[in-house]
Amino acid sequence: MTTVIDGRKISAEIKAEVAAGVEKLKAESGITPGLAVIIVGEDPGSTIYVRNKEKACAETGIYSEKHELPADVSEEELLSLVYRLNDDPKIHGLLVQLPLPKHIDEDKVIDAIEVKKDVDGFTPVNVGNMLIGKECFLPCTPHGIIVLLQRSGVEIAGKDAVIVGRSNIVGKPAAVLLLQNNATVTICHSKTKDLAAHTGRADILVVGIGQPKMITADMVKAGAAIVDAGINRNEEGKVVGDVDYDGVFDKVGAITPVPGGVGLMTVAMLMFNTLEAAKRAAV
Ligand code: GUN
Repeated sequence: MTTVIDGRKISAEIKAEVAAGVEKLKAESGITPGLAVIIVGEDPGSTIYVRNKEKACAETGIYSEKHELPADVSEEELLSLVYRLNDDPKIHGLLVQLPLPKHIDEDKVIDAIEVKKDVDGFTPVNVGNMLIGKECFLPCTPHGIIVLLQRSGVEIAGKDAVIVGRSNIVGKPAAVLLLQNNATVTICHSKTKDLAAHTGRADILVVGIGQPKMITADMVKAGAAIVDAGINRNEEGKVVGDVDYDGVFDKVGAITPVPGGVGLMTVAMLMFNTLEAAKRAAV
């Protein structure tokens, strides 16, 4: 029988744990964790993400601020807002929703975020610390993937984990975290020869490429755990992942649905990191 890895249930558990932690922090030190989200322009995907982040803050007792800037805002203006929030004591976590408009240098903006407030785990210092296994903010989507696997009883150690996609947000950090959990890791990408040969031997297959139904039943190993980090809209406007869910379902051992899987975990882990940032500020 195939297990549906329940992102709704597991993300709700994480948010309940965070809410309890927020209460405790408030009672013990009078500090309310605060998150600031900057969104530039009106990318439809980003707008939904940011709305969900605000909703999760309200659910967990985290103070939240949304800063909406027009698509034609200058890089300088965006950077000055980042610097202002870096210095704002009410704000413990700060993120700039990606993607940014083309005229803005994304790397420069990420680099401007105070490392202690980098709850997305995107700054070079955070990424470096993650790579060498030092204390850091783990990036929310890959961290959410690990927690989904752990809380669904999927063993990671010793398993062949194959990742499709090498983005800085999903593929590369997911590889690092799976490696730290003692999987044997392969990263596949657009230049990989014979993708199906790799995916077909994966005990754990993580996919984040942004192409609906990219992974079909003939490409997966029987009994594998499939983690679908894709969020796409199909021809009917429905939200779907990168995996042909119905097609692979009977063959695999466990699978995350879209929606109801990885996306919810990204937001839950952001709440987790914001609480962590506030706790660190309290000591
Ligand atoms: N765009 C897509 N996912 C994310 C995320 O986790 N954080 C930010 N800042 N932007 C994103």
